Amino acid sequence: MEPKSEKAVVAAQYDSAGETWHRIRGSGHELLEKPAIYGLLPNVEGKRVLCVGCGFGEECARISALGAAHVVGIDLSPGNIRQAKSNFPNLEFHEMDMEHIAFKPESFDIIFSSLALHYVPSWNATLTGMRDALAPDGAIVISTHHPAAWSALKEEDNAKKRQILGFEVDKASGKVSLFGDYLHERPITAKFGGAFEASFYHKSFSGMLKEFRDAGLTVVDCTEPAPVAEAQTLDPQFWEIRSRFPLFILFRLEPTRDAQN
Ligand SMILES: C[S@@+](CC[C@H](N)C(=O)[O-])C[C@H]1O[C@@H](n2cnc3c(N)ncnc32)[C@H](O)[C@@H]1O
Repeated sequence: MEPKSEKAVVAAQYDSAGETWHRIRGSGHELLEKPAIYGLLPNVEGKRVLCVGCGFGEECARISALGAAHVVGIDLSPGNIRQAKSNFPNLEFHEMDMEHIAFKPESFDIIFSSLALHYVPSWNATLTGMRDALAPDGAIVISTHHPAAWSALKEEDNAKKRQILGFEVDKASGKVSLFGDYLHERPITAKFGGAFEASFYHKSFSGMLKEFRDAGLTVVDCTEPAPVAEAQTLDPQFWEIRSRFPLFILFRLEPTRDAQN
């Protein structure tokens, strides 16, 4: 049997574990990433919005409820798109790879992508596809893994869980011990909630900025969100850790304007 392509692996992971993933998303989403990404979203009233990596379609429904004129969701996973269509039959969904965005130029005023970009190693095809599908005065809002979160060494056993980024030098022998690796871009496979396995790519902050520049996009806002205040009572352990160490990073981007205009 032929080995599966990286895309087929990701689609199969979400096809087979979409339900599990939805159940275990937890605090990182509800108490941190979702409040932050909706906080960065421009006013969608009367706008045409594309959601890239839309999962089960909840974000499309929320954006539609905020008053968007037309919302379209795309996702690589056929299972996720089936579920999105069944959850929200009045909205438009397509099975589509974000590296091959197939809409007419300037079809959307806002493009929204929550926690999907890190599934492809290079962001160039996705970002240029987004830019081409965007109106010249449009905006793109994205969230992705924070580079510090996935550059750390992660270890877990029955007793403890640790994430460490840094190094230790034994002064007598000069022996160096390294914990994690920030600068090298690389694939990572991780198990979430002990149940759902996902494969994605680590990218440094300057790597992200280069991807935006190369795709003709300018960063107009960026946040490294801490949890919302309610997290302190709803999930104190999560609040304590994530008030100091970032999990996600978010950007608002616009097409780069020619400096002479
Ligand atoms: C972490 S989930 C996020 C889903 C949703 N945006 C949310 O936050 O609830 C990532 C989503 O990206 C989708 N995805 C991964 N690679 C993709 C690709 N190349 N093109 C389109 N969607 C992709 C997955 O199928 C999955 O639904």
